[in-house]
Amino acid sequence: MSLNMARSQGLSLLLAAAAIGSVVSQNSTSGSYDVLQYVNQLIGSSNGGNVFSGATLPYGMAKAVADTDSGSNQGGFTDDGSNVTGFSSMHDSGTGGSPSLGNFALFPYSACPGDDIDQCVYPKKSRKIPYVNSSVVATPGYFSIELASGVSVDMTTTQHTSLFRFKFPAMEAEGNASSPLILMDLTDLSDSRQDNASISVDAETGRMQGNARFLPSFGSGNYIAYFCADFSGSPIRDNGIYANSRASTDVKDLKISRSINGYPLPGGGFIRFESPGDNAILARVGVSLISSDQACSNAESEIPSFNFEATHTAAETEWRNKISPIVVNRSGVNDSMLQNFYSGIYRTMVNPQDYTGENPLWESDEPYFDSFYCIWDLFRSQMPFLTVLDPATVTKQIRSLIDTYVHEGWLPDCRMSLCKGYTQGGSNADNVLGDAYLKGLSDGIDWELGYAAVVNDAENEPYDWSNEGRGGLDSWKSLGYIPVQDFDYKGFGTMTRSVSRTLEYSYNDFVITQIAAGLGKQGDVEKYTGRSGNWKNLFKADQTSYNIYDGNVNTGFVGFFQPRYLNKTFGFQDPLKCSNIDTNENDVCSLQNTGAETFESSIWEYSFFVPHDQATLITTLGGPAAFVDRLNYLHDQDITYIGNEPAFLTVYQYHYAGRPGLSAKRSHFYIPTFFQPTDAGLPGNDDSGAMGSFVAFSMMGLFPNPGQNVYLIIPPFFESVSVTSPITNKTAMIRNINFDASYQNIYIQSATLNGEPYTKNWIDHSFFTEGKELVLTLGSTESAWGTQVADLPPSLGTYEGFGNFSINSTSSAMRKRAVRYASADLSEKLDFKTGGAYWAESEG
Ligand SMILES: *[C@@H]1O[C@H](CO)[C@@H](O)[C@H](O)[C@H]1NC(C)=O
Ligand SMILES: *[C@@H]1O[C@H](CO)[C@@H](O)[C@H](O)[C@H]1NC(C)=O
Ligand SMILES: *[C@@H]1O[C@H](CO)[C@@H](O)[C@H](O)[C@H]1NC(C)=O
Ligand SMILES: *[C@@H]1O[C@H](CO)[C@@H](O)[C@H](O)[C@H]1NC(C)=O
Ligand SMILES: *[C@@H]1O[C@H](CO)[C@@H](O)[C@H](O)[C@H]1NC(C)=O
Ligand SMILES: *[C@@H]1O[C@H](CO)[C@@H](O)[C@H](O)[C@H]1NC(C)=O
Ligand SMILES: *[C@@H]1O[C@H](CO)[C@@H](O)[C@H](O)[C@H]1NC(C)=O
Ligand SMILES: *[C@@H]1O[C@H](CO)[C@@H](O)[C@H](O)[C@H]1NC(C)=O
Ligand SMILES: *[C@@H]1O[C@H](CO)[C@@H](O)[C@H](O)[C@H]1NC(C)=O
Ligand SMILES: *[C@@H]1O[C@H](CO)[C@@H](O)[C@H](O)[C@H]1NC(C)=O
Ligand SMILES: *[C@@H]1O[C@H](CO)[C@@H](O)[C@H](O)[C@H]1NC(C)=O
Repeated sequence: MSLNMARSQGLSLLLAAAAIGSVVSQNSTSGSYDVLQYVNQLIGSSNGGNVFSGATLPYGMAKAVADTDSGSNQGGFTDDGSNVTGFSSMHDSGTGGSPSLGNFALFPYSACPGDDIDQCVYPKKSRKIPYVNSSVVATPGYFSIELASGVSVDMTTTQHTSLFRFKFPAMEAEGNASSPLILMDLTDLSDSRQDNASISVDAETGRMQGNARFLPSFGSGNYIAYFCADFSGSPIRDNGIYANSRASTDVKDLKISRSINGYPLPGGGFIRFESPGDNAILARVGVSLISSDQACSNAESEIPSFNFEATHTAAETEWRNKISPIVVNRSGVNDSMLQNFYSGIYRTMVNPQDYTGENPLWESDEPYFDSFYCIWDLFRSQMPFLTVLDPATVTKQIRSLIDTYVHEGWLPDCRMSLCKGYTQGGSNADNVLGDAYLKGLSDGIDWELGYAAVVNDAENEPYDWSNEGRGGLDSWKSLGYIPVQDFDYKGFGTMTRSVSRTLEYSYNDFVITQIAAGLGKQGDVEKYTGRSGNWKNLFKADQTSYNIYDGNVNTGFVGFFQPRYLNKTFGFQDPLKCSNIDTNENDVCSLQNTGAETFESSIWEYSFFVPHDQATLITTLGGPAAFVDRLNYLHDQDITYIGNEPAFLTVYQYHYAGRPGLSAKRSHFYIPTFFQPTDAGLPGNDDSGAMGSFVAFSMMGLFPNPGQNVYLIIPPFFESVSVTSPITNKTAMIRNINFDASYQNIYIQSATLNGEPYTKNWIDHSFFTEGKELVLTLGSTESAWGTQVADLPPSLGTYEGFGNFSINSTSSAMRKRAVRYASADLSEKLDFKTGGAYWAESEG
């Protein structure tokens, strides 16, 4: 039996057990099946996906998994053969940067050599150990692994509490008595612990309580996390604390400094047990951001009796309830596609995390969510996806964002571990609020206050705009663009990205008009509509683009955005710089202070980022046929990279040029080639669940233009998809006639909505809330469906030049690529959060 087979058999056995008590059908044409069988949490657990593969509830604060010492261990566990360093209880998912969280790891030994506690190895760097690859099982609310020492560990969680179950190999055969030792390490994944961590061990009960101060992974400030660990399963033999590599049963309390060597001194507590025989030892670890007493009360109320099975089943039920409103017809579609789909859906609900009741920063009755990591990534499709599937939670997230504005003065653009995260471009929480407003989220949201928050972004410059808001607002208002080498004495941040910031601020201002219109603020609608046109001020109509990275070939396209100085003279950035094909190793494209005028992508790709005025953009770029040629060139020449979020909308922008069929074709070009249900199957960091939401929306056949009440229609990747609105209980359905699972028939020939002919190539959110039925008739060639100006999605400007346009007007064929083009070098260049160069530069 190969390891792979062992692993998948373990998985299906476990799923079979999990399915008891729920409606499960082996019949692929009948409607009912257990959605959880298609969740593969290990997707993205290697190759830089950085996905959290462990046990969590939806939006759970407790996230339990095995941590590894991989160079890419942001999600804790990395399936790349690196060593396990321990089992910790808080994580983020899919992020780059230095790893977040990973606080308070446990580590087990069957016995200390010679029965001497000093012979057990305490420091993380030396205790780490390989795992048995075939032993890994990861399913909703559950993670299990066996260490090379023979100790196997499985785990499940509630909202604030992890429950670990340790099973120790029989040792008597070797003539040794087993006397397991479990240590608790005052550490985190990135070794960021600051001074004066502490732990106390109760001699009688073995309870460990403590806390430590840590640093956020992509932001400013610090945070204190608290824990409370209790044990059960075997009589306690002794316990105590350790410092560095020495332990004592006499000492029960430890306060420990970071020490001076740039590495926190190893320290923590330990507990030793009488031989448990075949019994498991359970460790219940409550976490809190308020106090260790609260960590204890969280643990006691959530897992009162250490009941592993009940806790696991409750977690599964919660996940099943969240995901099962989306049902597809599985006929003809293989499990790979189903796993891509449902795992993508699953990952949208791992982060952000619900820390309600755990916020020490301000007093409030509002919900508190954290790990918006980062909104630049999340606004594009993850938050819109949750607005469809879990609007009640998005409502709470919006209330939390607004409450953060109330108490910290600004909406976040990124936030993790109670700290302000770095801003990547625009004030993109504006887009999140606008999207939710347009889609009717209201329960308990004070939209006047929400509006004040987005206007604050548009009008007031923060002193530190690396953390919030926007920079360069004086220039923005007076010149109508963010100048390269701006003069800005009011606020401070990294003076780069002038092109991408101008484009994002333009869109942010447009989204503000959407809320303003709904609230009847007509003057503001006009003011911000005007500013939303600022993108035009950076367009240089005669700018050419040669591929200097490959033979200096003329791309043939003329007219690109360019950086512009305060004196209105244009500067120059090669339109392909920071693109996927930029091979110049000296180009830096992220938040480094030597970074480019575009963030994590090229002028080529940002050329399309005018989500609110595609009509005017299409005219600006030479009309619909030229626009389609340019989009094709962007994709076919690999200038864009689907592993980073700015690529998402470009897959679907053919709709605006009257070519919805090409969006469908492009979507199938990327899925499944770039999205596979394997450990290495993601093209880049998942970025919370951003990649997951791209796959989920794409395969559902609707893709949002976030911040607008618009979903662009392509055929779902299934014969049918239905989504039951958790708000209205109404079920929306998309059905494909002539569906074929080999995806030859991917072109819509005609459509009906609730039985009436429907020619628009987009639909609005009432489709979901009112439970409409969209029936698409498919064929193997493009048709005239959705191609007329009247069929196109809304745009601020007027569509022009569509009269003579026919679907024959471009001959560009899409290239199918068998191999992924994400080289490690490239992702470092693109992704500041995995690079580390910024730190070196800013510290050096
Ligand atoms: C599958 O389920 C459907 C609906 O319940 C039923 O009509 C059909 O006979 C079943 N097919 C098989 C092969 O069991
Ligand atoms: C699923 O699709 C197949 C193939 O089109 C069809 O025969 C079957 O009736 C559908 N099942 C359901 C439950 O709609
Ligand atoms: C472990 O097994 C998985 C699944 O079979 C495989 O993708 C992965 O590469 C393996 N990891 C190592 C380090 O061999
Ligand atoms: C894992 O740790 C073992 C020692 O336990 C060491 O021999 C091995 O090289 C480590 N593996 C990796 C990938 O670091
Ligand atoms: C087991 O016993 C042997 C010999 O008695 C000793 O050398 C070894 O260290 C023991 N192992 C453990 C884990 O205690
Ligand atoms: C840490 O503890 C030491 C010794 O008690 C004390 O002098 C110091 O002020 C503490 N540092 C912090 C940051 O609390
Ligand atoms: C505008 O400013 C830039 C940058 O300082 C400078 O290179 C350029 O010559 C100036 N243009 C004019 C017309 O003064
Ligand atoms: C939706 O269904 C749930 C569960 O059956 C029920 O509690 C709720 O009141 C329903 N909501 C509406 C709007 O019908
Ligand atoms: C599943 O179906 C897709 C689409 O037809 C195909 O590309 C893929 O190779 C299939 N996967 C497997 C494992 O058969
Ligand atoms: C449409 O076709 C006519 C006649 O061939 C041509 O004169 C006109 O420029 C075309 N318009 C566009 C927008 O291409
Ligand atoms: C595309 O061109 C073909 C052959 O020239 C023609 O038969 C077809 O009608 C054209 N399609 C459209 C939609 O113009």
